[in-house]
Formats: sequence, C-alpha cells, structure tokens
Amino acid sequence: MGTLIQNGTVVNADDRKRADLLIEDGKISEVRAGIDPASHTIVDATGLLLLPGGVDAHTHMDMPFGGTISADDFLTGTRAAAIGGTTTIVDFAIQARGTRMRDAFDIWRGKAEGKACIDYGLHMIVTDLGSDAGKQGLHDMDDMVREGVASFKLFMAYPNVLMVDDGTIFKALQQTAKNGALICMHAENGSVIDTIVQQTLAEGKTAPIYHALTRPTIAEAEAVNRCIAMAEIAGTPVYIVHLSSEDALNQVREARDRGLPAFAETCPQYLLLSLEDHMPGKSFEEAKYVFTPPLREKKNQPKLWDGLVHDHLQVVSTDHCPFCFADQKVLGKDDFTKIPNGGPGVENRMQVIYHHGVNAGKITLERFVEITSTAPARIFGMYPKKGLLAKGSDADVILWDPNAEHVISAATHNMRVDYSMFEGWRVNGNARMVFSRGELIVDGGRYIGVEGRGQYLRREARGGAWQ
Ligand code: URP
Ligand code: ZN
Ligand code: ZN
Repeated sequence: MGTLIQNGTVVNADDRKRADLLIEDGKISEVRAGIDPASHTIVDATGLLLLPGGVDAHTHMDMPFGGTISADDFLTGTRAAAIGGTTTIVDFAIQARGTRMRDAFDIWRGKAEGKACIDYGLHMIVTDLGSDAGKQGLHDMDDMVREGVASFKLFMAYPNVLMVDDGTIFKALQQTAKNGALICMHAENGSVIDTIVQQTLAEGKTAPIYHALTRPTIAEAEAVNRCIAMAEIAGTPVYIVHLSSEDALNQVREARDRGLPAFAETCPQYLLLSLEDHMPGKSFEEAKYVFTPPLREKKNQPKLWDGLVHDHLQVVSTDHCPFCFADQKVLGKDDFTKIPNGGPGVENRMQVIYHHGVNAGKITLERFVEITSTAPARIFGMYPKKGLLAKGSDADVILWDPNAEHVISAATHNMRVDYSMFEGWRVNGNARMVFSRGELIVDGGRYIGVEGRGQYLRREARGGAWQ
C-alpha cells in the first residue's frame, strides 16, 4: 500500500501536467493521470502544485566562524528548511589547517548524525593541501570523493583564515579534472580587500556599512575571472558560490559564451535586498545584513534576475549562516571586521523566490523548479534521485499552495535566530505538505517527522557530464 496524491499539477523543470503521483517504499512509483486508488492512502492535492523538494546546495549549520558558531545546528536548521519546502541541503565541512579532510568529514557527519531532519550532503572546504607539495591533500580529495563528497570549496578571500593561494587552487582544480569532482569558489580578491579594510579601520570607520564598502564588486569580478581562467587551464568546470554583482556575472556570462563549463549560484539576499534599503549607514542594526560578498547597490538586482532567466546563473542557494543579533552580531559593535559574517535564509528561499520570481512574472514555474531543485541536484551529483518528480526518484515532494499567504517574521519562523532578513514580508505561495523519501514530514507549517531521520547523501562526481 502506498500514498497516492491526486488532483494536483505535477511540475518539473521541463514541463507541468495534471497527474496523480504514487509513492511506494520511499520512491515515486508512478506519475500519470488516473492511477487506480486501490488500497492506497489518498492525499487530495486539488488546487495545489506538486514540486520536487527543494535542494539548497549552500548552508552552514553549526559552523565555527569569527569566534562564534552559526546559530542553527543540523536539527533546527534542517527542520526549518523542511518547513519551507527544502528536502535536501549540501552543507560545508571545514578542513582545519594542519588536519586531514577525513577529520573534518567525521566531525561534520557527527554534527549531523541524529539531528538532520532531511537528507544532506557535504562539500569539503579545503584550507591546506599539506606540506609535501600538495600530495597528501590531493590524495585526501580523492578519498573524499570515494565518501560521496563530490565538491570542494576554496576561498580566494579571508586571508589568514580560509584563503588559499592560486597555486593551491590550481592544484585542486587539476585534481578535479582527474577525479570528476567540482570546485566551488568563494571568489573575491582577499588581499586587495584586506588592504582596503585596514586603511578604512585606520581612518576610524568601524560601522557595519564599511564591511560592504570595503568589498568592491570589481574585487569579486576579478576573482571570478581569475578562477575561471585557472579552471580553463586545468581543463575542468568551476562553480562560483554566492555571486552577488553584475560585474561578477559578466565574467561568468562571457566564459559560458565561450563554451566553458562555468557555473554560478546567487542567493535571495542579492536578488531582493540592497545596500540602499538595508545598509544606509545609520545604525548597528545593519549588522544583520553583514555577509560576504556584501549587499550590493540595487541596480545589480535586475541583472541577477536576468542571469537566472537566461541561464548565466544556474542555481539559487541561501548561504544560510545565521548569527543572532543580540549576542553574536554584536561582537562587532566597535569593529565591522568582528561581525560574524552570514545571514539566515534556509526556511524562506522557496517562498521569496516563488513570490518575487514566479508571482512577479520574472521566471516561469518550471524555471523556479530548475533553479531551486533540479539544477543543484544535477550539478552536485544527486540527480535524478533528487530534483525530479518521476518514477524511481526519491519521493521528496512538496504540495505547494500557490495562493497561501504567509507573513515572514522572526516571531514565527523556525530558524534559531532572533531576526529575519525578510521581516514583515508578505508572500503568496507556501509549502502545505512536504514528503521526504515518502514520509510526510511537514503538514500545515509544522514539522511532524522524526528528528534525525535525515540520511547522508553520497554524491556522484559528475566529471563534467552535465555539459
Ligand atoms: O557571509 C557569509 N557568506 N558567511 C558564510 C561563509 C561563506 O563565505 O560562505
Ligand atoms: Zn563563501
Ligand atoms: Zn557560505
């Protein structure tokens, strides 16, 4: 006996149709009109859309950063994600300098074990390839690929903390050309930014706005251009994380126009929030919007939306990295460099992109599915298990009510953070029910699944197969 969802509209990245969807043994077993109800449990989806569960390929649960730890752990963060319609995350394990990648892998599996409410994969942040000309680190990368860690993040920013030099980046890129994994790049010129930061602090400028003003868009564009060039020489794809500006986007577009396998994500905060509106330089409250790359001028927003429409950008992820205002953001009260970088978003991604993308007529429903679920599943080696409503895929299904009205607020949200980046926003469209591997885990905005039921996802290294 299975669960039969009747009378809904099934939406995939390439089409939509009125059909029933049958779930058996955690998988989708049939999608077609008129499936025999037999002895199945019936769920009526009249007026609802059936969407593949959201895939958020960029989260930071329980992450040490700037002398504190991100406020959501794998329990609170994935529960909130599920309530918002996301059924898969890919989080970042961090290799501490001088340690092995396996150490970080074990630590992050431990953080998620018994807590994750939805399925999760891990990227590995590489900080150190070791002292033997990188041999050990490159061997560790292969080891991680065998564990299903099919992607690595490297930083061109945050000198002395996470930043690695171009030689390290190039070696890692060359290794992925062999093992088929994907390098994700935090692309900002860290040395230039650090110089501007020191000069700015020396002038006594310490407010949150200076976090943004010390990180020009050209520093992002330069790093995007440099890492794409290194990937081209290494003969391998590259994926730019949290792309925030038109200048950076132009670099990706030009590379893709030349046929290079360059991919990029942006995030709701860059599409919907701006320097003018959220960081006018008036109060320390603006620390709520300190993340990296920073908020940009409003004129960038239509360019980013246009990039999503024309596939210059492939994915919308959140970069969910929450810090409470009252006792974490405040660490930087007298010095913007001490404000922990990051913002909360994992619960709201589907809502705000649906409302401001689909309802506003900027993107089609199918494109919404593509950028929030199918493309990240494909790029990060989880497709067609995730990101698709078809026979054989995991039964990660959202029953999406396109008319539900929801007001976003820290007073009612489920993330463990004391503010919302979208406080008071009214959105239409929300998850009514969420199934994960066939289990109903969210009903009417409440998580009803077992805590810790989420499984580690061993992801496939695609080896450029998505080109
Ligand atoms: O501000 C941000 N983005 N915090 C998380 C770390 C990162 O660079 O993704
Ligand atoms: Zn980053
Ligand atoms: Zn991040």
